[in-house]
Amino acid sequence: MASTNLSVLEQAHEAVDFLNSRVPEGLQKPKVAVVCGSGLSGLADTVQADPRMEYDYASIPHFPRPTVAGHAGKLVFGLLGQKIPAVFMVGRAHYYEGNSMDQVTFPIRVFKLLGVDTVVLTNAAGGLNQDYDVGDIMLLNDHIFLAGLAGVHPLRGPNVDDFGVRFPPLSDAYDLDLRRHVHQVWKEIIPSQTTRRLHEGVYAFVGGPTYETRAESRMLQMMGADVVGMSTVPEIVVARHCGLRVLAFTLVTNSAVLAPVPRGDEQLLQGKDASELSAMLEEGKATHEEVL
Ligand code: 6GU
Repeated sequence: MASTNLSVLEQAHEAVDFLNSRVPEGLQKPKVAVVCGSGLSGLADTVQADPRMEYDYASIPHFPRPTVAGHAGKLVFGLLGQKIPAVFMVGRAHYYEGNSMDQVTFPIRVFKLLGVDTVVLTNAAGGLNQDYDVGDIMLLNDHIFLAGLAGVHPLRGPNVDDFGVRFPPLSDAYDLDLRRHVHQVWKEIIPSQTTRRLHEGVYAFVGGPTYETRAESRMLQMMGADVVGMSTVPEIVVARHCGLRVLAFTLVTNSAVLAPVPRGDEQLLQGKDASELSAMLEEGKATHEEVL
């Protein structure tokens, strides 16, 4: 099929038609979609084996596939708590893999057309907030989308009115009721099971694939970011555009390096007395700027 000429809306409808023709009755019209971040595919095990259906991304029309070898990616349909139909995305396509913003956010539009009303996004990211420990979890309550602010944005281009409005607000993107509920559940159930802490904070999206330099990490921290990662935000933008409720979690997998780089000149001159310094100057081992 000459799919390249189809609009994103038409492509999403083709993916939905494919799924609706295969997903069994009891698992159709999922209410919740869960996007499993790196190392978090185990979340899909929340649904039991029966009823449960899996579809490789490769089999779903237009569905973007992760390029990492051995991580084919699949949609898992099942029931949460034995009653709420849900769909899990095991593996996601990232922007740094060369996908367009349309491709990265395509699954969110498919979820919307399937009848989903709430998306739960998860990711692994680096901690910028010095109070966070590796292994802690952060509930997103806001984000910084530098690429989006600069125009690399999933909603750039003609607005698709079928999904949402031209100028969607993002000031209330992270559903307050859902966040309150998570804190409640965390207090009641989780402390007996883990020493991890649950934070709430700001996720900064970067395009990647490089990790940040120390100066970049300090910049993001100064801007008010608590964690930094390479996913999730484009998906949240598109989810809010089409009116989905959003809940998003970060697993802090490491700390971003914030300390300034060691100075080459300090190493060179440390512990040297005046006569040694003048000898270094003479021999061309140090410059006047360094010695002064
Ligand atoms: Cl430190 N940075 C970014 N951009 N993504 C990450 C990360 C850091 N740690 C995990 N994912």
